[in-house]
Amino acid sequence: MMKIMLFLRFVAVLCLFTAARFCYAGRSRFSGSRENFEVMKHLNRLNKPSVESIKSPDGDMIDCVHISQQPAFDHPFLKNHTIQMRPNYHPNWINDDAIQVSATMKPSKDEASSSSENQQTITQLWHSNGKCPKGTIPIRRTKKEDVLRATSVKSYGKKKSVSTVAYPNSIDPEYINQNGHQHAIAYAEGEFYGAKATMNVWNPKVQQYNEFSLSQIWLLGGSFASDLNSIEAGWQVSPELYGDNNTRLFTYWTSDAYQATGCYNLLCSGFIQINNEIAMGASISPISQNQGSQYDISILVWKDPEEGNWWMQFGNGKVLGYWPATLFSYLTEKASLIEWGGEVVNTALDGQHTTTQMGSGQFPQQGFSKASYFRNIEIVDESNNLRTPKDINTFTEQPNCYDVRTGNNGDWGSYFYYGGPGRNPNCQ
Ligand SMILES: *[C@@H]1O[C@H](CO)[C@@H](O)[C@H](O)[C@H]1NC(C)=O
Ligand SMILES: *[C@@H]1O[C@H](CO)[C@@H](O)[C@H](O)[C@H]1NC(C)=O
Repeated sequence: MMKIMLFLRFVAVLCLFTAARFCYAGRSRFSGSRENFEVMKHLNRLNKPSVESIKSPDGDMIDCVHISQQPAFDHPFLKNHTIQMRPNYHPNWINDDAIQVSATMKPSKDEASSSSENQQTITQLWHSNGKCPKGTIPIRRTKKEDVLRATSVKSYGKKKSVSTVAYPNSIDPEYINQNGHQHAIAYAEGEFYGAKATMNVWNPKVQQYNEFSLSQIWLLGGSFASDLNSIEAGWQVSPELYGDNNTRLFTYWTSDAYQATGCYNLLCSGFIQINNEIAMGASISPISQNQGSQYDISILVWKDPEEGNWWMQFGNGKVLGYWPATLFSYLTEKASLIEWGGEVVNTALDGQHTTTQMGSGQFPQQGFSKASYFRNIEIVDESNNLRTPKDINTFTEQPNCYDVRTGNNGDWGSYFYYGGPGRNPNCQ
């Protein structure tokens, strides 16, 4: 009797479970719970178990995840990967006498000194509430809303289309302005093993939530067809990706022209982080002020000549981690094009150029403390030396919307001002 009772109870519980599952399945067919399930599954994949979590004043949650449990190691190619805790080589800094001082666009002595005075340390907002312990890395937690803002679970954390990279040599006008991506960049062509620059950080206005404004370095290899390899790092404002208008540090990579591979930050397997202080995708603070303090960040990406991995350094000596050489095809060897500068998306809502700003939102002519800049632009050559690139060219689709102007001087080496306001009387 007792046995039967127990059995019945078991059946009852089982029925409840089954009913719940039926309910769930039933609902899913009619009200999007299937998608909900996909979203939860994806969140489980992205958000790794944490040792500790830190709440940032901007609403982010930063999870301190054990270094061996980071998303990179979900990648089938990286299953047996031995983590590199430091690069074998840093590029050598060469005092380049070839830098020519030009009179135009050069910040005055006053400006140059005020710029170095103002080089206070840039940090990330979440640092005000804690630190991640050694042996862990800080990862910005992905929230359900983050994934729901994307057009699909699959597209979350990815750039949208093939032709988002500026293609300076394209003479095909059809190519230009596709997808509303607009650039104002400087670029160098050749054989490169790294790139470096210091850029000031702003908070450009982004009009539509599905537009963005970013400033970054691109290291490119392959053709602009389906096999483009790209490593990218800089700062961005992207309401769709982050749910706010904050300026955030980001990275990106792809080995097939933004199709199946790659993503922002640690939102897929790829980049291996070793640093416990800097979180990809976290807000940068403070930000440069118009005619006020200027805050800039330095980014260096270089190829370890021994292992072939591409390392990234942020600021003065903070090595964040690396992209394993195995992720790439062309970049396994070297980069053939380096680009520095800004990119925005203009959705041309109502047939008008939107008011989304690039950089500071001011044109390059405005100069220091108003316009945004990249300074001390350098490349790494085949001997692992950091040098000013020999030839720097510029490219912009619509200079009346966003423009770029290069210069050279002793303190800033090779530099440029770039950016613009978007819609204005000459850019409609
Ligand atoms: C990883 O190691 C296992 C066991 O040695 C091996 O079977 C597997 O093929 C390796 N995977 C990769 C991607 O190298
Ligand atoms: C971001 O900026 C846009 C345009 O200025 C504004 O409409 C929107 O409300 C802002 N979003 C947030 C989350 O602050």
